[in-house]
Amino acid sequence: MYIQKDVRSRDIGLETGLLLARYLLDTENLHYGYWMPGVEVHFRNLPAAQERYTEFLLSHVPAGAKSVLDVGCGAGVTAEKLLERGLEVECVAPESGLLEAARKRLGERARVHAARFQDFAPTRKFDMVMFSESFQYIPFELALPHALKFIDSGGYVLICDFFKVKGKKKSPIGGGHKIYELEKQAAQLGCEILTDIDITEQTAPNLDLVDDFMRRVGKPGYEMLMEHAMASYPRTTKLVRWWKREQIDKVEHKYFSGLRTGKTFAEYKTYRLLLLRRK
Ligand SMILES: C[S@@+](CC[C@H](N)C(=O)[O-])C[C@H]1O[C@@H](n2cnc3c(N)ncnc32)[C@H](O)[C@@H]1O
Repeated sequence: MYIQKDVRSRDIGLETGLLLARYLLDTENLHYGYWMPGVEVHFRNLPAAQERYTEFLLSHVPAGAKSVLDVGCGAGVTAEKLLERGLEVECVAPESGLLEAARKRLGERARVHAARFQDFAPTRKFDMVMFSESFQYIPFELALPHALKFIDSGGYVLICDFFKVKGKKKSPIGGGHKIYELEKQAAQLGCEILTDIDITEQTAPNLDLVDDFMRRVGKPGYEMLMEHAMASYPRTTKLVRWWKREQIDKVEHKYFSGLRTGKTFAEYKTYRLLLLRRK
């Protein structure tokens, strides 16, 4: 099966996240946690913080929305919550282990479509299209215009994701479309922004969690592996390090520079919940 390279490499990261979350935390949530003041930023508290994120997200589903298209549904945890609330749900995401997990979880209760959203042809309308931490994975110029094809006038688009802020140069943390471009695009496409809530402060601690893990587990583990490789296969290790030096430097800098913290996240990104209505 041919799988698009950009989707595949990102999904490997997400699938690894799913395996770790399942094994260590007994959860299949793949989004950030929503951290309340005073809660210790520790992995043991992540599942509860993720539950809080989902509650926050679902509390902004408008009463009039009875049918939802969940774009980038992960393992289907949020979709299941929507079903439990009596909503009709369909999901769409590229084929992957995540989608397999969603199919297993949702069974006959929801249709799960295997496709990149931008390639998914609208055959019916929904009351709302939802992107929970998936908006950033879809090319900006396609995401909202395509979402509008699935709703009628008066329909909703709910986006909860992080974005790049204006006036900042290259961030050590990747991802996110430009928030000011989305605001402009929404107006051009005739969408009214009904709700706009900034949850950067509540989501930034997730970066501290990962940074702490990288400092205490990732880096020492990596260094041990490298030491072992150098001791056992010195010539091959040196050769590979030299041959792939650019990629290795990039990965080492990305994960071990200590720059991917909550503070940096809050400086370069803005995590927003946006509820749009098509006029
Ligand atoms: C960070 S996960 C979020 C999962 C879930 N919505 C949640 O809140 O837990 C991102 C999701 O976006 C999906 N995704 C990535 N590229 C996509 C695309 N082009 N179209 C639709 N979904 C995509 C991934 O497969 C994954 O399910």
